[in-house]
Amino acid sequence: MKIRFPNYKENFIVPSVLSADFTRLAREIKGVEKYSGWIQVDIMDGHFVPNLSFGPHITRNLRTLTRLPLDAHLMVQKPMAFIEPFRKAGADLITVHLESENFPEALKEIKRRKLKAGLALRPKTPLAKAGKYLKEIDLLLVMTVEPGFGGQEFIGGMLDKIKAAKKIRENEGLSFHIQADGGVNEKTAFDCLEAGANSLVMGSALFSRKNPAFIKALSGKIKKF
Ligand code: DX5
Repeated sequence: MKIRFPNYKENFIVPSVLSADFTRLAREIKGVEKYSGWIQVDIMDGHFVPNLSFGPHITRNLRTLTRLPLDAHLMVQKPMAFIEPFRKAGADLITVHLESENFPEALKEIKRRKLKAGLALRPKTPLAKAGKYLKEIDLLLVMTVEPGFGGQEFIGGMLDKIKAAKKIRENEGLSFHIQADGGVNEKTAFDCLEAGANSLVMGSALFSRKNPAFIKALSGKIKKF
């Protein structure tokens, strides 16, 4: 039985396996899952972003390693081709970039397949472009780096986008998660929480550490924020 999805009023870490050590993925997941809301797989096609990552097979493997919900962040040109493969592989939430092809159809397809739906924005895409979809989504992913690679510097200017998204959510009585993704660490995590994000994707700041106590302490502070 899967562990429940947290709601947008809860603050939590979302480990991104992009930065995990794949020679010991089971141990990596064991080390983080107790302190996390769900697990993210970053899917890259080498077209939408200048990098390749992995396909549905890794999600299928991950499905056997954790009961946490799995979140597939599709950084791909043609998301429509990947929704069913990732649903079948065990994804519970699929996030598609507003800038990718056929976004409206992809969003409909995710919901038709009874999955949670996320909308992702590149740093240079204004929040206003997402306006009409905000009432239809479960998650707004605000990229705080240019998508494509882990380990990049956090773009502080994205905090205003997070603040604006929180304001819209309050004014319109909506309930989507606000997720920050990219360069989130023990410092920038609190800037994101302050601005209104509640779901914090962390890759290199998490998996580069060898002391498991790091995520335990950090997740405790984040939950209490
Ligand atoms: C970029 C990826 C990364 C990743 C998090 O396309 O989406 O943002 O998930 O990586 P870190 O935490 O290393 O920036």
